[in-house]
Amino acid sequence: MKGTEVFDPRSHYFVQRRRRFGFLEDWRQRRRAIARGDDVRLERSPARRAAFGFLAGGDSKVPMRVIDARILEVAPGETTSTHRHAYDAVCFVLGGKGQTEIAGERYAWSKYDTVHTPALSWHRHRNTGTEPARLLAITDAPLVSAFGLARLEDIGDEPPAPDEPLHLPMARSGTAYERELAAAAASWQERQQARRHTACADVTLRASPKGSRSALLVDRSLGYRTTGISLAMFEIRPGGAQSKHRHPGEALLYIVDGEGYSVIDDVKHEWRTGDAAIVHQYVWHQHFNASAERPATVIRMHMWESVIEMMQAAMDPVPLYEDEPGLEERMREVVGAMED
Ligand SMILES: [Fe+2]
Ligand SMILES: [Fe+2]
Repeated sequence: MKGTEVFDPRSHYFVQRRRRFGFLEDWRQRRRAIARGDDVRLERSPARRAAFGFLAGGDSKVPMRVIDARILEVAPGETTSTHRHAYDAVCFVLGGKGQTEIAGERYAWSKYDTVHTPALSWHRHRNTGTEPARLLAITDAPLVSAFGLARLEDIGDEPPAPDEPLHLPMARSGTAYERELAAAAASWQERQQARRHTACADVTLRASPKGSRSALLVDRSLGYRTTGISLAMFEIRPGGAQSKHRHPGEALLYIVDGEGYSVIDDVKHEWRTGDAAIVHQYVWHQHFNASAERPATVIRMHMWESVIEMMQAAMDPVPLYEDEPGLEERMREVVGAMED
């Protein structure tokens, strides 16, 4: 081989290069920092027996790579069809009351409750109240689709059957294969028996070093076993702000109530009730409450427990979570005071 050899554009390098650069260029142009509640087109589906539309991801104006956000509205007295999907979903109740039946178990909910409908379990929702019930569903459908595992099935009026039992061999020995079988069975069982519901009445917002009051709604520490989806509620005081920080995407902040703005990469994005701010990139960002009278209530969603943890391991020693200078010291003082 000679150093002067002409490169062949069909070589693996060029095939990959075109794809990677093409993807990034397209993504940078299409990504959006705000999803508008007013842009959601709720379409009544006779098959689903509910109105449904995407806030972010799906066919909305806001492309997503990892998580997405949808709105589902069920009319009073109505029960949706029974369905299941390969993605995990967490439903935050924006209004109304009802119940969700998951694999034969029922979970009653009302405003600001949260319900986890796990991947591959049959489920349906029922509105037991007198006003429309509105659910915000956050899912990891884009990630599941990226792996080529998209799957969605609907069986109409059939009740949600319990999860299928795991098929395991009768004879057991101590080989690597059997250990893998046992570990997988234990992990699946843990997921099946995990927590599914958080009642708003049980949630206490507590002062956080980031300048807001907050509480986890769905998280491993509360007994949930999701694919990594975690939800927290936080409240920014009137005229206040959350401290500046940065981390990789995707994080979605749904504005449950209030008006304010987020500064993402030095660009100001205004929001109000029903909108969502989206942090796609590893850039400094900060959320502000623009009202001098009312607190702003926000739900933040991301997949830190899986996707970002993997990124942290893959990128180490690059720090993937950074707070504004000085916050670390202030936090150490708080933790120190608690331990004293
Ligand atoms: Fe679902
Ligand atoms: Fe953030």
